[in-house]
Amino acid sequence: MLLSEIPGTVIFAAATYLIMVAAFYLSKARRLHMIVMAVIIVIDAAFPIYLVLTHDWWKRLIIDGEILSFMLWMHLILVLTLYMFYGLQISAARRMLRGEGTGRDDHRRQAMGILIVRALVIITGALFAK
Ligand code: HEM
Repeated sequence: MLLSEIPGTVIFAAATYLIMVAAFYLSKARRLHMIVMAVIIVIDAAFPIYLVLTHDWWKRLIIDGEILSFMLWMHLILVLTLYMFYGLQISAARRMLRGEGTGRDDHRRQAMGILIVRALVIITGALFAK
């Protein structure tokens, strides 16, 4: 597949993934880390709204029958898992900033889960994208 054939949304999501990985390794640069992660979480929260507004979902899901696609449901479950992880990660960050040790432990443990789930969200989304 040529790069020009990949939908812009997929290229954008993959680019934000690379930025997230950089912010993951730069956690000691606390301000940068917090700002980059917060911006990516807001982007991820807004992404479904953008997709609803810019695609003809009635045609794709109902007329073309994509609602029966296993990939679509996998993708949705992964997205919900990612949102759940984000909630837990923000709550752990707040505890860490208050000086509670469990906050740091939880935040570190959840970090890899977020990287894995977000990669899977982007891959299943890319397979489904048109
Ligand atoms: C809005 C969201 C987030 C906030 C507010 C936040 C905040 C923080 C803060 C305050 C620290 C401590 C930095 C220091 O040691 O001075 C930290 C560390 C860290 N964060 Fe985040 N973070 C967020 C999202 C994420 C995400 C999404 C990931 C993973 C993909 C992540 C991975 C890490 C890791 C691996 C550390 C190092 C933990 C350690 O030193 O044991 N963070 N974060």
